[in-house]
Amino acid sequence: MRCARALALLSSRPLPLPLPRGGRCPQRCRMLRYTSTFGLIIFSVALLILSFISFVSIKKDVNPRYGPNGGPRMYMFHAGFRSQVAMKYLDPAFTSLSSAINEDLKNSSKWKYNSTAFIQLRTEISHHIDIPHNFTLTRDSVKVGQLMHFDYSSHKYVYSIGENFRSLLPEVSPILNRRYNVCAVVGNSGILTGSLCGAQIEKYDFVFRCNFAPTEIFKKDVGRRTNMTTFNPSILEKYYNNLLTVQDRNNFFLSLKKLDGAILWIPAFFFYTSATVTRTLVDFFVEHRGQLKVQLAWPGNIMQYINNYWKTKQLSPKRLSTGILMYTLASSMCDQIHLYGFWPFGWDPNTGKELPYHYYDRKGTKFTTKWQESHQLPAEFKLLHKMHTEGLLKLTLSHCA
Ligand SMILES: *[C@@H]1O[C@H](CO)[C@@H](O)[C@H](O)[C@H]1NC(C)=O
Ligand SMILES: *[C@@H]1O[C@H](CO)[C@@H](O)[C@H](O)[C@H]1NC(C)=O
Ligand SMILES: *[C@@H]1O[C@H](CO)[C@@H](O)[C@H](O)[C@H]1NC(C)=O
Ligand SMILES: *[C@@H]1O[C@H](CO)[C@@H](O)[C@H](O)[C@H]1NC(C)=O
Repeated sequence: MRCARALALLSSRPLPLPLPRGGRCPQRCRMLRYTSTFGLIIFSVALLILSFISFVSIKKDVNPRYGPNGGPRMYMFHAGFRSQVAMKYLDPAFTSLSSAINEDLKNSSKWKYNSTAFIQLRTEISHHIDIPHNFTLTRDSVKVGQLMHFDYSSHKYVYSIGENFRSLLPEVSPILNRRYNVCAVVGNSGILTGSLCGAQIEKYDFVFRCNFAPTEIFKKDVGRRTNMTTFNPSILEKYYNNLLTVQDRNNFFLSLKKLDGAILWIPAFFFYTSATVTRTLVDFFVEHRGQLKVQLAWPGNIMQYINNYWKTKQLSPKRLSTGILMYTLASSMCDQIHLYGFWPFGWDPNTGKELPYHYYDRKGTKFTTKWQESHQLPAEFKLLHKMHTEGLLKLTLSHCA
């Protein structure tokens, strides 16, 4: 990261020491000329070294291993400066990806759905994971006192299932025997900012969203309709101050109220850091039983199955993004899937302008490359784009109106 930024700084700065034009060159001036030649050589060497370092660190990202310890939070759709530099200048595959994307942007009506291929994909996925059943734990699938482990944390960490937690589980999976025609999976990339895709997104039969992303004030770009959203328990900590004040509790209650009958999909058993907040969350839901229409779903330890499927597609990051996870779930529920807000880079492919990483980030929020530690969003994106060209899904990267 630091390398990439240094590289940019160097190359954007004009070369120093302008030489006097014409005339004789006195001793001092010759000295200057030598100095500038020397400077140029140093600059080129530095550039080479920096490119090499970036190249090596990208190579290192190609084959990550599964680690038992995940970080505390799922970072999604951040666009890092390093990835921008990396993808633009160092990854030879980007040139072809970039021109393919340009073609898509020019004529999005060229995209064609291939239902044969999609049904094949759905069958393949179902060989690795029983999505309707693995979508959520149910009351019959756990026992009070049972110790749960966490997908991305050391086995020593446990969560003991209590009567309250069990009482919040559904009797049956809310997606059992549910089938929708065309679904939208909305990622949180800054590419949605100013897209005016809201009206289009509102028209889908079922809308998936990620990480309880706000919609109300961005409805022009992302729409409001939500039929399912993921809720990492750490959101309570980040946005609702752990429900420590009456105000925080009211805010959280109102946010849930807006979801109406949507599914709140709570991955509480991915990271051990969720354990404490999960207890706060459980208490809150028990206290407000009957006052909210939102349907709770609590997946168990399912990531190994999901990972196994994507491994067959040569995608095996330490952690898959929530976006691709939603696509995987959607594959069993929907006959056709369209993706919005899937774009992990820091520039707009339509205009080349800088983008925030989330559509809801405040202006001036700094890029983060935290996701690089565990996610591989550029690799995920490449795969999703390939699937787009095969008619398995439709990616929208352009503006809608
Ligand atoms: C876009 O592609 C479709 C189908 O290939 C074609 O009918 C249409 O004329 C194209 N439009 C433009 C603007 O190129
Ligand atoms: C649709 O997918 C199937 C299976 O992958 C493939 O055989 C077929 O050629 C595809 N059809 C089109 C029109 O691309
Ligand atoms: C996933 O589904 C299979 C088949 O129904 C079941 O045996 C397994 O216990 C489920 N696992 C989880 C974590 O839901
Ligand atoms: C999706 O949500 C909208 C409101 O947000 C609701 O009107 C619609 O019935 C829901 N669709 C399904 C399939 O649950």
